Amino acid sequence: MNDIEFTDHISINDYLELRKTVDFKILSQRQAEIALKNYAFLIIAKRNEKVIGMTRLIFDGAYIAVFADVIVLPEYQGHSIGKTMIEKAIAYLKTNMANGEQILVMLMSAKGKEGFYEKFGFVKRPDETYGAGMSQWLLK
Ligand SMILES: CC(C)(COP(=O)(O)OP(=O)(O)OC[C@H]1O[C@@H](n2cnc3c(N)ncnc32)[C@H](O)[C@@H]1OP(=O)(O)O)[C@@H](O)C(=O)NCCC(=O)NCCS
Repeated sequence: MNDIEFTDHISINDYLELRKTVDFKILSQRQAEIALKNYAFLIIAKRNEKVIGMTRLIFDGAYIAVFADVIVLPEYQGHSIGKTMIEKAIAYLKTNMANGEQILVMLMSAKGKEGFYEKFGFVKRPDETYGAGMSQWLLK
């Protein structure tokens, strides 16, 4: 597929729709608006003006980076779109690093997607060195 365009703009509705398509947690309109204003790196994949994928990176500018919203629509999966977006995000991080520095890049893999991330050097936790990654959905 060589007619994919990459941009950094997505509407709130397209964002919510994309998340819904892959069964990600439903966000409120308010959360979606804030999320789309607060990121270090955002990449949107489009084909014929239709949004078909996205990836977002939260980064403190120093040493902690977190991937979020790594999505490719099911009918476009398996065409290296996810790979291109992850590689561009990692290239972005490298432009923000001085020689010799390290950044801890984190993510919570969806079930069954670990192998995708392993392609880019991510390792499953726990292992001999690290404890488990931990998370919770906090409800108010
Ligand atoms: C995970 C996801 C983003 C991958 O996107 P994609 O565009 O289909 O992946 P790509 O085609 O770029 O795949 C890149 C490589 O990863 C491999 N890969 C893709 N999904 C994989 C999986 N679930 N397990 C193991 N390897 C996988 C591909 O075979 C390919 O390998 P290659 O480079 O050796 O040929 C996509 O499946 C998706 O959006 N899933 C639903 C939402 C989701 O779960 N996102 C992850 C949230 S943490």
